[in-house]
Amino acid sequence: MLHGAYICSISSVSFIRSLMARALFFCVLFLFLSSLSAARSRLLATTSNATTYTRVCDPSRFAELGLKLKDFGYCDKSLSYDLRAKDLVDRMTLAEKVQQLGDKSTGVSRIGLPEYEWWSEALHGVSDVGPGTHFDQLVPGATSFPTVILTAASFNQSLWKKIGQVVSTEARAMYNLGRAGLTYWSPNINVVRDPRWGRITETPGEDPYVVGSYAVNYVRGLQDVEGYENTTDLNSRPLKVSSCCKHYAAYDVDNWLGVDRLHFDARVSEQDMVESFLRPFEMCVRDGDVSSVMCSYNRVNGIPTCANPQLLKETVRGDWDLHGYIVSDCDSIEVIYDDHKFLSDTPEDAVAQVLNAGLDLDCGATYTNYAENATLQGKIREGDIDKALKNLYVVLMRLGFFDGSPKFESLGKDNVCAGEHIELAAEAAREGIVLLKNADDTLPLNNSIKTLAVVGPHANATKVMIGNYAGIPCRYTSPLQGLSRFADVKYAMGCSDVACKNESLTFGAMKAAKNADATVVIVGLDLSVEAESLDRVDLLLPGYQTQLINQVAEVSKGPVILVVMSAGGVDISFAKSNSNIKAILWAGYPGEEGGSAIADVIFGKYNPGGKLPITWYEADYVDKLPMTSMPFRPVDSLGFPGRTYKFFNGSTVFPFGYGLSYTQFTYNIASSKRSLDINLNKYQHCRPLSYEDDAYKPPCPAVLVDDMVCDKELEFDFEIEVQNRGSMDGNDVLIVYSKPPNGVVGAPAKQVIGFERVFVPKGESKKVKFTFNACKSLMLVDSNSYTLLPSGQHTIMVGDGLISFPMQVNFQF
Ligand SMILES: *[C@@H]1O[C@H](CO)[C@@H](O)[C@H](O)[C@H]1NC(C)=O
Ligand SMILES: *[C@@H]1O[C@H](CO)[C@@H](O)[C@H](O)[C@H]1NC(C)=O
Ligand SMILES: *[C@@H]1O[C@H](CO)[C@@H](O)[C@H](O)[C@H]1NC(C)=O
Ligand SMILES: *[C@@H]1O[C@H](CO)[C@@H](O)[C@H](O)[C@H]1NC(C)=O
Ligand SMILES: *[C@@H]1O[C@H](CO)[C@@H](O)[C@H](O)[C@H]1NC(C)=O
Ligand SMILES: *[C@@H]1O[C@H](CO)[C@@H](O)[C@H](O)[C@H]1NC(C)=O
Ligand SMILES: *[C@@H]1O[C@H](CO)[C@@H](O)[C@H](O)[C@H]1NC(C)=O
Repeated sequence: MLHGAYICSISSVSFIRSLMARALFFCVLFLFLSSLSAARSRLLATTSNATTYTRVCDPSRFAELGLKLKDFGYCDKSLSYDLRAKDLVDRMTLAEKVQQLGDKSTGVSRIGLPEYEWWSEALHGVSDVGPGTHFDQLVPGATSFPTVILTAASFNQSLWKKIGQVVSTEARAMYNLGRAGLTYWSPNINVVRDPRWGRITETPGEDPYVVGSYAVNYVRGLQDVEGYENTTDLNSRPLKVSSCCKHYAAYDVDNWLGVDRLHFDARVSEQDMVESFLRPFEMCVRDGDVSSVMCSYNRVNGIPTCANPQLLKETVRGDWDLHGYIVSDCDSIEVIYDDHKFLSDTPEDAVAQVLNAGLDLDCGATYTNYAENATLQGKIREGDIDKALKNLYVVLMRLGFFDGSPKFESLGKDNVCAGEHIELAAEAAREGIVLLKNADDTLPLNNSIKTLAVVGPHANATKVMIGNYAGIPCRYTSPLQGLSRFADVKYAMGCSDVACKNESLTFGAMKAAKNADATVVIVGLDLSVEAESLDRVDLLLPGYQTQLINQVAEVSKGPVILVVMSAGGVDISFAKSNSNIKAILWAGYPGEEGGSAIADVIFGKYNPGGKLPITWYEADYVDKLPMTSMPFRPVDSLGFPGRTYKFFNGSTVFPFGYGLSYTQFTYNIASSKRSLDINLNKYQHCRPLSYEDDAYKPPCPAVLVDDMVCDKELEFDFEIEVQNRGSMDGNDVLIVYSKPPNGVVGAPAKQVIGFERVFVPKGESKKVKFTFNACKSLMLVDSNSYTLLPSGQHTIMVGDGLISFPMQVNFQF
């Protein structure tokens, strides 16, 4: 989402006008509110006398509008949400209906329906990027967690969920105070296909299963109301706030050498679609029960995603059974006719295509401007508008917009930026930070370090640490502040900014390093290098940063620790091999408490356990293939290497899943089944697979997963004992992969099937149990896009093969 400056400009005039009106309105309101016990004052009505209501279906609110509540079926709690939504929609004229189809839905005061702004954001904390949310004196800020790529590096599913829970608590509190909406267009779950992508910071990395697992946990953290997690009627399951998985689908080119997302046509094979691009979305909808999906700006194989009925109606709503609404990326209906010039569409044609494809809500004003005429011109059915609106209102009903949410109404100012929330932001950064090098066990530093040189463009980072889609943080703890808690700090920036255009400040940094017991160099990227609407063109540190690091390392009196802040990987091979640089940490963009987490790790208050959620390629990778080439598998005819750990077989700076610890872990596998004997019925047919060598070819190569009964029979489990043999408590991440039978053409080298983060005190051991089902964990997507279970010898691996054992699949007739 969001449009950067480019799209914003399209509708900026009315957009800004409404923001200003809102700001003014809330300023006036503020005086009034602060005189109330503020926590419960949510304003729904557009009435000028500023009476506050916590729900639409409040009898006195109706009375104030000159209406009788009991005349309105949509407020009748004895009816189902579906019926209530139908009643509401059926009361509207066509003109009124279309005014509710944009993110700024106007409401219909004639029938008691207030306005609602659908667009709010909460990618890593409540954000004011969407117009539905804002900060002011009453709520000056909200907790700003690390950006998602660092939180993903923790590989800790309960952390991901807990962050979602804290964010939704702050969001609800702000909603009660009239500062935020109930519908959040987060998370961003596009897989990282190319290291140059500008939005890596927003995502959980390159592996579809890890990304999908992040989505499920974060969405459940945002949405689930305690006690209703497993409600079987998904049409009425209550929501704490509504979450949205975006950007669907195959969206990961922002602006690369002039190719931008508003014009880009991603040419994608169905195999990659099923295997990689769609998988996180499928998990988000099926396992996360998300209440919204956003379609993207790009085209896929010629068709704008928001206009593709196969993607929306058939797959999301049909196959995956979405209970919620589908929303466009902002102004992306307009993008269809203005930028893609799809089928020479008129605005009405575009409206017809997206509505028929299953798009319910337009972030923008194209539906509201053109859906009425599209109906009058016979291009769409009014009944399809009704369906879209019903999808929207059922979500608002599940949110308590109409009936209230007693469970959450006591949340207020004190629940935003609460001490434990800020502490969780620090914890998330500590858990995510990845130790990439630690020669001679230089880290952690101890209290023999009295003076510390802290240099580099990010040494005093603040705003950089919260990346994009941020709000206003509660506060910042910069690296400088964090490290000052442990030693007497000598600070020198070394460069005036990230671009580091010249060497005029190098000498100051060298001087600081010469005289200190140890030196921490904090470098990296920021939103001027990698951002929405801005892809990278190389994988290097900008400007003179590399030179600064080398020169400082050359003269430093004490050990040199390099800290890299970035989302995408950086080719720091030079630092890996420089023996003066003893240790390297990757800190992502670590959020408002980032500096405190970095210092805790450097001084051993916390033993790092994060693992890289993406491959760090060598710099020349980007010379070998254009960013616009979509396939994950190598394209031999063009000399393009493969993408991600699954299909890239060359050398890397650091591989996916890499990360060290201050302690040593050893492993024992406690128990395991080593084969699965599966009886096939007459209707289960053997499917062909291609093998590099026919010698590998089993009599029955594979069977369709859809034909299998994926029950306990197909399960296998094992237990790993993790022993901490070092002298510090530590956190280990076990990443479990399956490796397909040898010789299957086009199969991935391996694929993540599960992972678990575990804390093990020094000298102790912990057992971790994994349970898998062959249908999900041993399957392959073949070149015809069938999902198959291959027979033969699979391999289960933990980490980089420290433990591995065979898993034989036999089909019997
Ligand atoms: C995972 O996150 C949870 C929630 O923040 C935390 O309590 C737990 O200690 C973390 N686990 C590990 C092994 O770090
Ligand atoms: C919901 O189901 C999950 C998984 O089956 C289970 O772990 C959890 O305890 C259940 N929650 C409730 C409230 O029943
Ligand atoms: C809708 O159609 C009417 C009648 O043809 C026309 O006057 C009006 O300008 C159209 N509205 C838009 C937004 O195009
Ligand atoms: C502190 O670290 C230094 C360098 O690793 C080491 O020589 C020294 O023994 C340590 N001191 C203490 C008190 O642990
Ligand atoms: C660090 O940055 C903060 C916020 O930008 C600024 O107020 C402070 O003066 C900086 N510290 C130093 C030592 O430059
Ligand atoms: C070095 O860069 C800084 C910041 O961009 C600038 O102010 C300064 O004039 C430059 N110095 C030289 C010698 O170019
Ligand atoms: C790596 O993949 C390329 C492209 O498919 C292939 O030509 C090469 O032989 C592979 N190298 C190794 C070491 O497997």
